[in-house]
Order: sequence, then structure tokens, then C-alpha cells
Amino acid sequence: MTLSGGAMIPNTSIPGSPAPFPGAVELPSTAQGMDGALPRLFGDAEPSASASAAPGTPGYYFLTPTLATRSSPGSSFSRRIFDVRDIRRDFPILQERVHGKPLVWLDNAATTQKPRAVIQRLVHYYEHEYSNVHRGAHTLAARSTDAYEGAREKLARFLGASSPSEVVFVRGTTEAINLVASSWGRRHIGAGDEIVLTTLEHHSNIVPWQFVADEVGAVIRVVPVSDRGEVMLDDYGKLLGPRTRMVAFTHVSNALGTILPAQEMVQMAHRVGARVLIDGAQAVAHFPVNVQTLDADFYVLSGHKLFGPSGVGVLYGKKALLDEMPPWQGGGNMIQRVTFEKSTFADPPARFEAGTATLAPAVGLGAAVDYLDRIGMVNVAFHERELMAYATETLSQISGLRMIGTAAEKAGAMSFVVDGISAEDVGRILDQDGIAVRAGHHCAQPTMDRFGVDATVRPSLAVYNNHADIDTLVRAVRRALRH
Ligand code: ALA
Repeated sequence: MTLSGGAMIPNTSIPGSPAPFPGAVELPSTAQGMDGALPRLFGDAEPSASASAAPGTPGYYFLTPTLATRSSPGSSFSRRIFDVRDIRRDFPILQERVHGKPLVWLDNAATTQKPRAVIQRLVHYYEHEYSNVHRGAHTLAARSTDAYEGAREKLARFLGASSPSEVVFVRGTTEAINLVASSWGRRHIGAGDEIVLTTLEHHSNIVPWQFVADEVGAVIRVVPVSDRGEVMLDDYGKLLGPRTRMVAFTHVSNALGTILPAQEMVQMAHRVGARVLIDGAQAVAHFPVNVQTLDADFYVLSGHKLFGPSGVGVLYGKKALLDEMPPWQGGGNMIQRVTFEKSTFADPPARFEAGTATLAPAVGLGAAVDYLDRIGMVNVAFHERELMAYATETLSQISGLRMIGTAAEKAGAMSFVVDGISAEDVGRILDQDGIAVRAGHHCAQPTMDRFGVDATVRPSLAVYNNHADIDTLVRAVRRALRH
């Protein structure tokens, strides 16, 4: 990657992480600089969450205060921060042709493509290091254990966890939520207790809580969203009370792209003594996340949406919480001692990793976060922010197209419907032009219900997308409408 312009921007230096790409930067983030260069996506017709942020917090509430205080007065954000062509060259699949057209991958909320660094890491692991972990005296067992546990350290650093032992490898976001609901939930949620979710949740952050609620007789309460797709914080506050045990919400809506005011929502939940799980599946690829700054009790993500392999994800949990949680699956690796009379269990994270782990996917995910560290997540955020603004503006100008979800703060996904053509048909028409988007209900049917639609067309961005991708999309949607 090369830096175009930006001499005033200091070099990124991430302790303990690989050297940055030549010229890669971490942008300073003064509130003034952010607001100056990157306008909000939609106007402030109604109070947004960020409007109530404490004085001195950045205009983008999803960028953590830690980053906001690493400021460089007087810097400007109007310059390009890296050359996206260099990023695109790192992703071999972006050279594919579909129906004779260059692939335009705008289905990143469903899954992201993989950089060569991840692919090569997997090849190296299988060619030189592969073994089961933790259990062997031989050299390859040690190499493989180092690779696997090294990946845990990388993920801990990437998320700002206080220790790698707070990082549990799971199959993905869905499994992580099921783990917490089953293990923490069954122990701490009882009859008449309340679980607070938002209208914007993916089914994976609804159904596991319904299982627990049905089993113990708890009540699920749902935070409404405005017509723009923003959570209504006043209503959220009113739902919280002495019976609230768990608040589980998505950091970014997979269907609409709304970024939720996570830090504020956590603080509000903690004030009533509730625990908080944040579904970060749609957030971590788009902007920096620090679980300690958020003060999240649990934070979950999927590797395949973070440029890593499928089949691995992360459950972050505060150590004190994981320590007192019972196992949820039994088997090898998770025990201390087994007799036929009684078994005792290992400390976390091993307690929650029964059986042979998702070894290679975890190692590959470690390589993915190394790759992102080299770019700098702040740089990713600013690049995508600009692209999201461009896409929003150009799509909104198409007559016959209606955006669903017009929150002031969005990342990744955009949703729309078009007059006279079903979302699925739009998806099929776009595919003929080599454009991959998701069309459907996005496993977020309550969100669809809220906006009175069955399905939307959902283009979604990642760091390797560029303006040409958006232009191709806009041309194809216009053509579809004409015919
Ligand atoms: N949860 C993924 C999506 O939103 C698959 O598309």
C-alpha cells in the first residue's frame, strides 16, 4: 500500500504487531478533524445517539475515545489515506470474472474475501506446522500449539482484551451467542427476569435468548428503532430496570448498517446491574473496536466476516465472568480431571473449547488481523466512511429506489428496495453484471417487519471496495429500473 499525500499524518505503530505497510498510517482523530472532513451520512432530523455523547468525545461515536485522544491538532482528513488499488491486489479473487464481467464483490456483510496473506498462512500452516494442539510431546504439536495460541494473542490485541485468556475460539458469532445464552444465561436468568434486545438483531441474537427465556420463564423486551433505523435511546432507558439481567445488541445492523451507540448503551445497562453482550459480527471489519473502552461484558465476532477463514469466531468475555461460567459442551481439552464419578474442568478459555479446536481457521484469522493491523483499522474506517457517503448519495438519486435505513452513522451495509422489481430479481439482474449483493431478509426478519418489507437489496462494503464498484452498481440498478 502506498500513501497518497498526508505528510502531516504520523506513522502507525502497533505494539507487538507486525510492521505497518510502507506508508500506512493511523489517522489522528480530533473531533474537529473528523467532523470537518467526513460529513454525517444523513441529516440530523431527529436527535441521534452521538448528539448526547459527553463533551469532548468524537463526532463519530463508534471510534473509541482512546483513538480520539491520540489527536494531532490541525490535521485534515480530506486526503486519501491509502491507495485502494494496492489493497485490491492483495485479494486474488477480485480478479475473477463472473458472466464475463469483472467481479464486483459487494456482499461483505455475508462474508468477506481473503487476502493472500491469509491464504498463504493457511498453506504454510498445513505444509509446515499442522498437528493437533496442547496434547503432544512432539515438535509439530508444539509448532501448531504456538500458531493456535499465537492467534489467540493476536485476537486479544486486536480487540483490546486485557488477556488472551478472555478470548474463546468458537465456530462463529452464532455459536458464541449460544454459548453465552446457554452457559451464562441458564445460571443468571430466572423466572420473571428480563432480556433486552433491539429490533435490529440478527436471528442469531434472538433465537438463543428465546431458548433461555422459554426454559426459565424470562421475558424478552425489545428496543424500538426510529424510521431511520436508529435505536430509540429514551425507550431503551425505559425498558431497563431491576429485572434486566442481559442486554444483547448488535454493534452494527447487518440489514441496515446502523451503528449502535454501543458505549452509551453499555453504560446504561450497567447502571441497572445488567450484563451486556455485543454482537460485533458486522462491526470489526469496519472500524476499530476496543472491548475495554466499550466495557462490554461479552463481545462476539465471526472470522469469515473479518477476512479470515470460515468456521472460526471469537467469544470475548471478561475474565471474572468466564471464570464463573459452567462449561456448555463436554469432551476432551475442557477438563482438568475425569473419573466416572465426577469431572472437573479447565480454566477458560479451554473450558469452552471442547474437542479438537478449529485449528487452521484460527491461525488464518490471526493472519487476517495481522493484515488489518498493517493497514490500520482507523484507515479502514475512514476509507469506508467516504465510500459509504458516496454510495448513499449516488443510490439515493435513483428515482424508483428507496433506501431502507437512513441512520446518521452507518457502516458496511446499505439496504434498498426498487419500484416494481423484487429484491431477489434485482439481485439476479446485478449478478448478470458480475455484481454480488445479498437480496432477502438477511436473517433479520423483525427489522424487515419494522420497515414493512419482506426483503431488501443489500450491497455491503469492505476495505477493498472502491468508487468504481459503486458506479457499476448504480449503473446496473438504473438499467434494471429502465427494463
Ligand atoms: N449474517 C450474514 C448476513 O447478514 C450471513 O448476510
